[in-house]
Amino acid sequence: MNTPICDFVREYIRKNTLRLHMPGHKGVSLLGGEPSDITEISGADSLYEADGIIAQSEENAGSLFGCRTLYSTEGSSQCIRAMLYLILQHARQTGKKPLVAAGRNVHKTFLSAAALLDFDVLWLNPKENGSYLSCDLTAEELDHTLENAEEKPAAVYLTSPDYLGNTADIAAMAAVCHRHGVWLAVDNAHGAYLRFLENSLHPIDLGADLCCDSAHKTLPALTGAAYLHLSETANAAVGSLAKNALALFGSTSPSYLILQSLDAVNLYLEDYPARLTRFLEDVYALKNALLRCGYVLYGNEPLKISVDAKAYGCTGNALAEIFIPPSTIRSCPVI
Ligand SMILES: Cc1ncc(COP(=O)(O)O)c(C=O)c1O
Repeated sequence: MNTPICDFVREYIRKNTLRLHMPGHKGVSLLGGEPSDITEISGADSLYEADGIIAQSEENAGSLFGCRTLYSTEGSSQCIRAMLYLILQHARQTGKKPLVAAGRNVHKTFLSAAALLDFDVLWLNPKENGSYLSCDLTAEELDHTLENAEEKPAAVYLTSPDYLGNTADIAAMAAVCHRHGVWLAVDNAHGAYLRFLENSLHPIDLGADLCCDSAHKTLPALTGAAYLHLSETANAAVGSLAKNALALFGSTSPSYLILQSLDAVNLYLEDYPARLTRFLEDVYALKNALLRCGYVLYGNEPLKISVDAKAYGCTGNALAEIFIPPSTIRSCPVI
């Protein structure tokens, strides 16, 4: 696995070139990262028209994720808007109405995208008394909704993992969607690591058409680093529009620090599965120890431990102080 963006910037720094270009810090440090913070100079490629080092690096990421993968320097937020734009373009191509069926626990970015792109939403609500942090919809319920929908949505949009550590049965949901001729898009902001489990639980591997991952949430990437992934089907239908879709919602000055971070993460991911498997054994043991101590846990997500503080009779903040008294926080290992 090579790291073309990091290599380019390292060489640029080594040459000590006079920086007659933006950014205005000219490589002089106030914070520490400035020497590596460049812009689209000759040879540095350009994120939204990539055909050089950024394109190579995105291909590396795609080979790790097993699908077409594009970089975002503005988080899953940017990818979510782009995904929805692509869904609407596909709807237009196929004569469908601009309607998306979405689990009611969507992140607020979905709502701003609905306002910006002017599509209608068919809400998939959680069961009575259910939390808006989750959406406990089954594949059978989704099937029933799609079967009886007056208007078939252009796509179903699910948030999985959710905020409480639950994952949806994406394989079953994708099968239902495809039976109805509807795309499945997944907000996998919290689940980039799912691809690297012994048996991948990444949405694209389970049949989703589009998904986004925040690299910065569960992988050691800088804040803002994220991926937009397209399945073969989605790539064939709207792949040529994907870069423009991201550009539509992004700055014309994407951060090269974040691009280098995504590039470096590719190398890191090469031997990540083995480390992740070992680490998950510890997480599993800790979950069991907590259960033995009487704690009530939520969710089925492998890497997340969600404790029901209310069942223990206290607030989340109070529980956090019991588990991790501030004086014991020293450093947190990266897997
Ligand atoms: C479920 C979910 N989706 C999307 C986002 C947005 O991700 P980002 O911060 O990478 O833009 C978040 C952020 O917390 C989130 O929790």
